[in-house]
Amino acid sequence: MAEKKKLSVAEILAAARKADSGGNEGGGAPSEKAAPPAEESSPAAAPAQSASAPSEPPAPATAAKSPPPKSIEKPAAKPAAAPGDRPSVKDMLAMARAGKSAAPTVKPAAEAAAEESAAEKAKPAPKPAPKSAPGVQAAKAAKSESPAEAAAPRSTASILEAVRAGKRLGPISKSELAPAPAAVEAEVVKPAKMKPAAGPMPAKPDYAKKTSPAVKDEAIESRRTAVGFLGFAVGSFLAAGFSAMTATFGLWTLGFARFMFPNILTEPPNRFKVGFPADIPPGTVNEKFKTQSGVWLVNAEYNGKPQIIALSAICTHLGCTPNWLEAEQKFKCPCHGSGFYKEGINFEGPAPRPLERFAIRLADDGQLEVDKSRTFQEEKGEWSNPDCFVPV
Ligand code: FES
Repeated sequence: MAEKKKLSVAEILAAARKADSGGNEGGGAPSEKAAPPAEESSPAAAPAQSASAPSEPPAPATAAKSPPPKSIEKPAAKPAAAPGDRPSVKDMLAMARAGKSAAPTVKPAAEAAAEESAAEKAKPAPKPAPKSAPGVQAAKAAKSESPAEAAAPRSTASILEAVRAGKRLGPISKSELAPAPAAVEAEVVKPAKMKPAAGPMPAKPDYAKKTSPAVKDEAIESRRTAVGFLGFAVGSFLAAGFSAMTATFGLWTLGFARFMFPNILTEPPNRFKVGFPADIPPGTVNEKFKTQSGVWLVNAEYNGKPQIIALSAICTHLGCTPNWLEAEQKFKCPCHGSGFYKEGINFEGPAPRPLERFAIRLADDGQLEVDKSRTFQEEKGEWSNPDCFVPV
């Protein structure tokens, strides 16, 4: 036993064939003689050979170096085996893969079969294959193998088991990998379409209900009338407002323009024409221009000379306007009673001095022209100035 060493598979097979030939010679089973050597080397033939081998005595692996099989001792632990039994090719292969020497570690076929059956029982029961296409089955089998399993070294027994299980080893084509459309559709469980639960529809309001065309036209016409009236009212209100605003802005504009001009007096001009001298007879007083211009036109004598003069209608006391009294032939002031003669000399009342004269002259057209911008006072001796009378 000192020469124990690990034998290769080829050596073990050669030893087994040799032992088989020896066994046959020594009265082995007739079935072993009929089995060709080529079948023993193939994995498919191994189970068949192992099935026919239980009657053979187990042969030690060291048969190659040991004497002929007749001298091989039978294992005492296997009383069920026959004395002439020897290990089958499968057993020897299993022992060689386990790395043990053939002689001491070879198990009998019955023990190996018991271990194999125990291992098969320990495996989970295969699920019933779904009804699908063969391509789908092959694809599923290929997919069920994990990468770690694919990379791991495979034994002959495992390869045989995979073949029996219908697994496909090695690369597969795309057509095999892709499942059949019908099978995929059958496998895909489509979720049932859920329809949303809708409650009953609410009742239609009155304005949404259908009405007759006549009623609808009447409603439309009345609505148009109301809209037109509202538009007219709003338009009138807006027009009135805009008109008032425009008038206000116009007045403001005029007031501003008037403000830009200076204030002036609207009195009558100081120089004006009072008519022809023939219109004023001698000894008369003309009051035609008293109210408008505050001037009396008098045709009277002053210092023995008949002349036409223009007397001021302002009292020399406090500025009141005296009245001409034709019956009394005098000017009488209604304020304080001052009295003046026809030529303007004061003679009664509080007036301190005679009435004043305006400048008068004959114009180019023969009319008398009065100039109120120039006055002449008797107490100052100005009445002798020819500019304050027109001789007649
Ligand atoms: Fe004419 Fe006084 S105002 S008398």
